Amino acid sequence: MSSIDLMSLVRKKIKQLNAYHVESLSDEIKLHANENPYPPSPELLKRIFLRLNELELNRYPDPECRNLKQAIAKKTGTLPEQIIIGNGSDELIQYLMQVLCNEGDHIAFPDPTFAMYRITANCLGLNPVHFSLNDNWDFEAQYALEVLTRHKARLVFLSYPNNPTGNCFSEKSIQQLIEKFDGIVVVDEAYQDFSGKSFLKQMKNHNNLVIFRSLSKIGLAGLRIGYGIFPSILAEQINKVRLPYNSNTLSQYVATELLNDFSHVQNQIHSILEERDRVIDELSKLSSIITYPSNSNFILFKVPNGGDNLFNKLKKNGILLRNLNSHPKLKDCLRVTIGTKQENNYFVEQLRKISP
Ligand SMILES: Cc1ncc(COP(=O)(O)O)c(C=O)c1O
Repeated sequence: MSSIDLMSLVRKKIKQLNAYHVESLSDEIKLHANENPYPPSPELLKRIFLRLNELELNRYPDPECRNLKQAIAKKTGTLPEQIIIGNGSDELIQYLMQVLCNEGDHIAFPDPTFAMYRITANCLGLNPVHFSLNDNWDFEAQYALEVLTRHKARLVFLSYPNNPTGNCFSEKSIQQLIEKFDGIVVVDEAYQDFSGKSFLKQMKNHNNLVIFRSLSKIGLAGLRIGYGIFPSILAEQINKVRLPYNSNTLSQYVATELLNDFSHVQNQIHSILEERDRVIDELSKLSSIITYPSNSNFILFKVPNGGDNLFNKLKKNGILLRNLNSHPKLKDCLRVTIGTKQENNYFVEQLRKISP
């Protein structure tokens, strides 16, 4: 029998971290994770079902993800050799840091933003630094550049639109960062399908620009597919740290089919955008709530002195939102993902009843 002190084996830096926590309740209306509320089209589901037998699930997947890369290259006007597929775009954040940073190096992002940039940096023994967003949830390039230069940052992550604030940062500020920063600028376009805005075309003129995208927000969250578009030289280096077979056969197949026949998803995006504007309208009618503009499939809103309370009451009534109250700049703020029309109606109805 062995009984060694297991915790004494764990690295000190890891002991100090907390696991990423996502609330998850069954039978809830899930408006907390920025997913697409609609399932894949019946045609796609049928095709998957018919194809299952031919997918050779007893074999390893295509390590190069050739078909999927072709589909992405066609959709984005890029080359397959620039593309890396991730098991979610989360994975690409880690790969890029592994390739560019030594332990102790700095990486940067605006604050508040997507939590995984900080979490991944901490896990890898890097030092995350931030530049604060202003009251419009935007930043000035000059200020950001000062922070980047002071810390000799290797990388800056810009969520565009920004999660959780929902807006796109000023194009001019991003452009200036790309032009003046002596490191890599990642424009994380996980919500690009909703904003319609992208820095992809700038890759032709700037070799320090990387674009991340995700299929999680447009219908395939459960299959974990994200992709990065890199300068080919960087993609080659990423491939050295990428785990073999990081993208599975089924995910590759479904993602390829979805991208090659995008019209159904495009209609879903259209409905989500219509619903988003309707929900913003409804929220704006409630005097106890401050609603922020959104370029995404979610809305940030503030309930002065009542965020936690409202979150808990909604949860009791079967609606799960994202509570951002623990972030110093997001006190009393909640984030709601746009659901189906029915789900949104129920959310708005409950909100009218219980908001302070
Ligand atoms: C800005 C941003 N980037 C990346 C991701 C991760 O997406 P994926 O599901 O592809 O890992 C998210 C998910 O919430 C996000 O909000």
